[in-house]
Amino acid sequence: MARILITSAIPYINGIKHLGNLVGSQLPSDVYARFNRALGNEVMFICATDEHGTPAELAAAKAGKPVADFCAEMHAVQADIAKGFRLSFDHFGRSSSQRNHTLTQHFAGKLAEAGLIREVSEKQVYSNADGRYLPDRYIEGTCPNCGYDAARGDQCENCTKQLDPTDLLEPRSAISGSTDLEVRETKHLYLCQSQLRDKLDAWIDSKTDWPILTTSIAKKWLHDGDGLQDRGITRDLDWGIPVKKGAEEWPGMEGKVFYVWFDAPIEYIAATAEWADAHGYDDSKWERWWRTDKGAADVKYVQFMGKDNVPFHTLSFPSTIMGSNEPWKLVDFIKSFNYLNYDGGQFSTSKGRGVFMNEALEILPSDYWRWWLLSHVPESSDSEFTWDSFQQGVNKDLADVLGNFVSRITKFCRAKFGEEVPAGGDYGAAEQAVINEISTRLAAYEGHMQAIEIRKAAAELRAIWAAGNEYLQAAAPWTTFKTDPEAAATTVRFALNLIPFYAVLSEPFIPDAAATMLAAMNATGTAWPTDVATALGTLKAGDSFTVPDVMFAKITDDARDEMQARFAGRS
Ligand code: 2FM
Ligand code: ZN
Repeated sequence: MARILITSAIPYINGIKHLGNLVGSQLPSDVYARFNRALGNEVMFICATDEHGTPAELAAAKAGKPVADFCAEMHAVQADIAKGFRLSFDHFGRSSSQRNHTLTQHFAGKLAEAGLIREVSEKQVYSNADGRYLPDRYIEGTCPNCGYDAARGDQCENCTKQLDPTDLLEPRSAISGSTDLEVRETKHLYLCQSQLRDKLDAWIDSKTDWPILTTSIAKKWLHDGDGLQDRGITRDLDWGIPVKKGAEEWPGMEGKVFYVWFDAPIEYIAATAEWADAHGYDDSKWERWWRTDKGAADVKYVQFMGKDNVPFHTLSFPSTIMGSNEPWKLVDFIKSFNYLNYDGGQFSTSKGRGVFMNEALEILPSDYWRWWLLSHVPESSDSEFTWDSFQQGVNKDLADVLGNFVSRITKFCRAKFGEEVPAGGDYGAAEQAVINEISTRLAAYEGHMQAIEIRKAAAELRAIWAAGNEYLQAAAPWTTFKTDPEAAATTVRFALNLIPFYAVLSEPFIPDAAATMLAAMNATGTAWPTDVATALGTLKAGDSFTVPDVMFAKITDDARDEMQARFAGRS
């Protein structure tokens, strides 16, 4: 049994995420976690809310709440929505947890001991109009690298270059738009990533199986321009993890906090410790996932994230881990994603454009969204949500292929043989042909899932569903029943056996429908198939079942048009 540690990029606390955020990390990581659990592997699946930094402070101020209260409330909201989408985290932590405070301060202390932290007296932008220092992402201007005119002070979202605010041309406050900015002198800590450049370079080079999207971004920032820059890891803010060296004060750093991007990835570890705390376990239970000297050497660690997060996970966080000189687990595989666009443009929070996670669940069940999003996950390039495509995915794949198959065969059996599996004869050539086709497709499906090629896996799953439909159509038990009821009974028995088989294979994508199918066939607890012929003989003559309610309701053209209009946003 393999041991798989899976983390999803942790969403910012300030607001509910849209479907593009969901498909760019949490949803594909959930499919991978569910698949591995189904195989019998031991899985630790971690996510959390990313609670520090100015966005949280400003969102709390806007809501008129103390920032700690705001974060607690929003964490509960996000946790609830995650449940609604059936995201099966073992723990959904909080980067503001005591565990993360302690671990972040611990790492900073170790990095200082290793000589990898230097103090820098730096100039920082102060906004007179806003009466505060402006953190990097709250300064906007023109990217010196690509010329994009709305680049943020921490990163240009157009070309992904990590920036310092003073790099921006024509800077302005993103809070007030004011250009009345002045530069003040303040002292900060820098992580000397550049000292680790060769080590990081060799490490990335050794990852020959990583997606090109991941390695190309890492290589770009290792080699382009001046190469890997040292990064400031502290900020002049109130809300965050106080700068300390382990448990000790850090002279000269009073009143400052760690930069949100320094503490956020450490929360992957801290959230696992929070999981142990929540269960009353001792430290050895989480350390066996994270400390290679305490059992984590045989763990496979896979991270999921959008492409804008890649530099932080290929360079910055590994610098923290490697630089600590302690035996922490480094990531083994980084799966990164392109962007999902919305109906001819982009999702936009400010314009109310696109579907947000809470709204999606109010309209339709989570399986509908899961299926469309996962079968269109932006792996090799950006992809686009359109209502036409969504309607087709639901109506054709889910309702016409899978739902119709289940409903047709269970209803036919109930009408002709009653609600139990009929005896009939042995499986013949037609059944063997389906077994052969599905065996080949199952191997491909498993291969794609192991390689985390989610879109290809979804296509294979759809083809496996279609094989059952085609079989039923050709075997036509409603016709053969009239002349050869035994042959019809064989067809029905075989087709009924496909239902729990489909349920197990589909569970990573559409867990609710899978549970309905298993419950209907009294087959809860069916294991992942190792041999298709054996699996399709599991339900025996005389086993009882019930006809499930309609599993997927079709989306009408009117409903589609209505939803499209509702989410078009203000221009
Ligand atoms: O881009 C984001 O939504 C960040 N909050 C992701 C952080 S991932 C990590 F470092 F923890
Ligand atoms: Zn740029």
